[in-house]
Amino acid sequence: MEQLTPTPPAVGEGVGPRPLRGRVSKFVIPEVIFGVGTLAEVGGAVRRVGGRCPMLVSDPGVLAAGWVDRAAPHLADVHVGWRLWHELTPNPKDYEVQAAFESYVESGCDALLAIGGGSCIDLAKAVAILSGNGGHILDYEGIDRATSPIPPMVMVPTTGGSGSDVSQFCVVTDTTRQFKVTIGGRALVPEISLTDPELLTTMSPELTAYTGIDALSHAIESAVSEACDFLSKGLAIAAINGIVEHLPVAVEDPLDLAAREGMARASLQAGMAFTNALLGATHAIAHQIGGALDLPHGLLNAILLPHVMRFNAETHPDRYVDVAAAMGVAADGLDAMSAAERAIERVEQLSRALAIPSGLHEIGVDPADFDTFARNALRDAYIATNPRPVSEDDVRRICVAAY
Ligand SMILES: [Fe+2]
Repeated sequence: MEQLTPTPPAVGEGVGPRPLRGRVSKFVIPEVIFGVGTLAEVGGAVRRVGGRCPMLVSDPGVLAAGWVDRAAPHLADVHVGWRLWHELTPNPKDYEVQAAFESYVESGCDALLAIGGGSCIDLAKAVAILSGNGGHILDYEGIDRATSPIPPMVMVPTTGGSGSDVSQFCVVTDTTRQFKVTIGGRALVPEISLTDPELLTTMSPELTAYTGIDALSHAIESAVSEACDFLSKGLAIAAINGIVEHLPVAVEDPLDLAAREGMARASLQAGMAFTNALLGATHAIAHQIGGALDLPHGLLNAILLPHVMRFNAETHPDRYVDVAAAMGVAADGLDAMSAAERAIERVEQLSRALAIPSGLHEIGVDPADFDTFARNALRDAYIATNPRPVSEDDVRRICVAAY
């Protein structure tokens, strides 16, 4: 009998029509609740997934902004008790996960509720893994390493954004080896993602810019990924379009709710795209630099993205034609390479307009570390779906160009 085992796409295949046989599409996302005022639904969401006493993971900035206080009555209304955990830093560390997990067990919690950015959501996911599977969080590096059921998760993002509220990934910093470890698998898809765009209004302009460019890098990397398909492509393109329109306004006027809603929508779309189509070399390299130097994830993506696009466009310019159009480039009549170059210029213009540093030298990165970054980037889960195969030498060249 003929084998029907799916095979991965060959390098060089685009996102256009492919043979029916041997090409399998999958798409996983949580239940999604979206809209201004939906924070009032948070208690019902926790109850609906079986939570009675969630660990509520947040961070000092979100607490100071008052969002946990705003959520509290909605939890009390449906008799949901909760235990607060806010001892974490950006780029959550392995030891912070361990401390949170010990508190989770001691408190008798039965679910995870995160109200915060990607760091809060990733820490909550890591605690959920340990709760169901035991061991140390770094044991789960890779895909589908956590095989036992984990507690239900409700994620309320406050940035636009990490996409972690819909993704099947969490990223934890290995403080011994000093790089970020990507943990992935179906089990890590939260039960519910609840986005109330009003929660984005208390982000600073700088955080808005960094997290917004992170979302743009999710959208662009997933749009050109080896694993991009008809289910994720439209979401990625819509996200690019939305970010280009709304991000400058959100940075300029933090209280512009229409811009915040536009960014929340685009971040959600980018998150749904990348959790299925995966990412590429921008994230694979950013994880190494971010883990070593504890620098903001979105800032590193902003600096690296145009250089990775330029590297990829040398062999796969066609992948960037739709990206260029979504960024507002009049691509009709342009050859693929010209369209790709225009898209790269738009990314660089956007970063400049948002006052984001443009070189690794501006943020304290030492070229002496490029060899280490190159070696470790090839271990990252996202390197495999970069459209162009990447060698250690390629990573070094990208870092030099981005310096
Ligand atoms: Fe990211």
